[in-house]
Amino acid sequence: MGAVELGICAKGNEQPLFQVDGLTKYYGTRVGCLDVSFDLFPGEVLGIVGESGSGKSTLLSCLAGHLRPDLGSVTYDGRDVLGMAETERRRLSRTEWAYVHQNPRDGLRMGVSAGGNVGERLMAIGARHYGTIRDTATDWLGRVEIAADRIDDRPSAFSGGMQQRLQIARNLVTGPRLVFMDEPTGGLDVSVQARLLDLLRGLVRDLGLSVIIVTHDLAVVRLLADRLMVMKGGRVVEQGLTDQVLDDPQHAYSQLLVSSVLQV
Ligand SMILES: Nc1ncnc2c1ncn2[C@@H]1O[C@H](COP(=O)(O)OP(=O)(O)OP(=O)(O)O)[C@@H](O)[C@H]1O
Ligand SMILES: [Mg+2]
Repeated sequence: MGAVELGICAKGNEQPLFQVDGLTKYYGTRVGCLDVSFDLFPGEVLGIVGESGSGKSTLLSCLAGHLRPDLGSVTYDGRDVLGMAETERRRLSRTEWAYVHQNPRDGLRMGVSAGGNVGERLMAIGARHYGTIRDTATDWLGRVEIAADRIDDRPSAFSGGMQQRLQIARNLVTGPRLVFMDEPTGGLDVSVQARLLDLLRGLVRDLGLSVIIVTHDLAVVRLLADRLMVMKGGRVVEQGLTDQVLDDPQHAYSQLLVSSVLQV
């Protein structure tokens, strides 16, 4: 048996970490997202793109348990997420999952120091020793390129890019397996975006994270995502390997999306 066949066999045996089937959410009569299905394998990055109002944030909120879908199922590591008790889902959110908000203010505690924002997450999973917590927080601030002498500053004294990096440190310090990100580079200067993307790519690779990332920026998915889902009007109109979808889009809307970027 050749190496390629062996590779296929290994992949075939792997179980998805996250499985979504027929997920649907209405806001009254308005469609939020409709009949969305996909599998996410360990260490895989899935990008979700689509125009404003296409249902990206609705879908992500349903996946992370922040919104209750009307129909469909979500399975994490073999467990039924929608049927799980709220306390169990919250425990998952503190330990194995992370959620990076578009606006860092939604994901940080603005009245607490940078070190406190990171350390608080460690305490939530049982860390008690002050010295260890502070050392780990310092280490993580370094990993997201925030100088150690800013550890006692509040996030309100940080730039937008720094706040976003702090939010990422706060989310990753607990060693999650699955990270949800909603437009993590939105609202930042282009040069700041590029550095943040580079940083994110390094962390995702080093930590072997599984990621579901929502963005309207095709450059973000080109750099980060293994697979891509294109949404329009709440539905997934195309999904596939990122390079395949971007280089040879099949659906008319994906073609429009790609060509509109190429013309810029
Ligand atoms: N809280 C809400 N109440 C009613 N309708 C909503 C609500 N949130 C979203 N919608 C509607 O659901 C649809 C999908 O919105 P959603 O915010 O998921 O889109 P999105 O793809 O994240 O857009 P954007 O790129 O602008 O963030 C839209 O028609 C929107 O108006
Ligand atoms: Mg959104």
